[in-house]
Parts: sequence; structure tokens; C-alpha cells
Amino acid sequence: MNIILLGPPGAGKGTQAQRLVVEQGMTQLSTGDMLRAARTSGTEMGKQVAAVMDRGDLVTDEIVIGLIAEQLDHDNSGGFIFDGFPRTLKQADALAELLEAKGQSLDSVIEMSVDDDALVARITGRYTCGNCGAVYHDTTKKPAVENTCDECDSKDKFKRRADDNEESLRTRLMAYYKDTSPLIGYYYAKKKLKRVDGLGEIEDVAGAIKMALNL
Ligand code: AP5
Repeated sequence: MNIILLGPPGAGKGTQAQRLVVEQGMTQLSTGDMLRAARTSGTEMGKQVAAVMDRGDLVTDEIVIGLIAEQLDHDNSGGFIFDGFPRTLKQADALAELLEAKGQSLDSVIEMSVDDDALVARITGRYTCGNCGAVYHDTTKKPAVENTCDECDSKDKFKRRADDNEESLRTRLMAYYKDTSPLIGYYYAKKKLKRVDGLGEIEDVAGAIKMALNL
């Protein structure tokens, strides 16, 4: 099964994708994570996108479509979770073509809706493990042992994203409403869209996603 998690910044796409990886053996393809990895390793492309990402603007379609195309050759026995991709109609068309060329298709698109006030609180409180990428929050998801990652036991490796501030978030939200929200109608028309309330507890949202996917 191949699915898209669609929603504004902070909707919980990464959090829920990580659960589906662990519980269902799916493969998470996050263009945000791929772009951050390119920045960390200092590639030309990483340098090119750094300022764009920190501002909260979208990286070009060509770059992110290229990143996804590279990943589709990998083993897909558990199914792909597209997290943060597609974000424009051009990316959505490209994904359909790429999957078709591999003899695959998209099964469902989960739209996670969360109101803007909650998104600000989530984004400004977020931090991740610099070793394994596990996602935490200052109030809603702290590690069981202070300064220690629940998933990989790394100590003092937590970090915050450069674009997790109110100014960048405003730009990211504008990009979502202008360029990405048209995908809601696009996938509705293709009968792929399933809506989930992303405002509940992490467990409840996970349950709603499983129900929507008949898992
Ligand atoms: P990306 O990394 O994709 O960021 P995003 O879409 O802005 O989404 P986030 O990662 O911020 O949020 P999320 O929905 O994953 O929430 P999370 O689970 O972490 O993209 C970053 C940048 O890269 C873009 O701005 C752009 O520049 C570029 N880019 C990436 N893809 C691109 C593309 N396709 N095209 C062009 N450019 C692209 O949760 C957030 C916080 O809330 C966490 O602390 C979490 O613990 C907490 N939380 C989660 N769920 C709940 C809950 N139910 N209740 C309470 N707290 C919760």
C-alpha cells in the first residue's frame, strides 16, 4: 500500500509516519528529511536549498521530484508513506507518472487537519533526536528519561530545526494554503482522499489513520 500524509507544517505527518514504519513495516519517504540530510552532508544541492528552507519557502519541483524518483527503486514490500510530498500539483502529477512507470499506484491520501493556533504551539515546541530523527515536543511528547532518546538511547543529541520559528512558520503556512491545499480537491476528485482530525492525542490520531486505511 502506498499512501500520502498531507497536511500543514506541524500537522503530525512525521510523527504518524514513524509509527506506521514501526507498526506496519512501511517505508517513510520524507522530502524534508532528504533535503536536511543534503544540507548536513554539504552537497551542492544542500547548499542551494538551505536559505529557501530556512525562510519557509518551497524548494523547486525539479529538486524534490528528483529526490523521490531516486527512492522509488528501493524495496517497497511494505509500501511507501510519502511525507511532505507532493506539495504542488506538478509534484502530484509527477508522482502518479513515477509510480505508474514502476507498475505501482497510490492507494490513499490522508489529509490531517489541525487549526493554525495548534500548529504554532506544536512547531515552536518541537525537537528531534539528531541521531535517529525521532520527534519530541516540549510539553506533549517528552522522552521518558531526560536528554535521552526513547528510540535509540542517544544522550544529549536533541536539536531544533532552523525553520521552526514563528516567522518561517508563517511563510510555510502560506505556502501550504497557496500551493499544497489544492491537492485536497485533486485527490478528492480521484477518490483517494480520506480526512482525519489531526487535533487529538497522538494515539487517537494514529487509531483514526489505521481505521481510514483499514489496517
Ligand atoms: P518538512 O520537513 O516536510 O516540514 P513540514 O511539512 O513543514 O512539516 P513538519 O515536519 O514541520 O511537520 P509534521 O507534520 O511532520 O509534524 P510533526 O510530526 O513533526 O519540510 C521542510 C521544508 O523543506 C519546507 O518548508 C520546504 O522548504 C522543503 N520541502 C520539503 N518537501 C518539499 C516539497 N515536496 N516541495 C518543496 N519543498 C519541500 O509534529 C510537529 C510537533 O507536534 C512535534 O513536536 C510532535 O511531537 C507534535 N505532535 C505531533 N502530533 C501531535 C498531536 N496529535 N498532539 C500534540 N502534539 C503533536
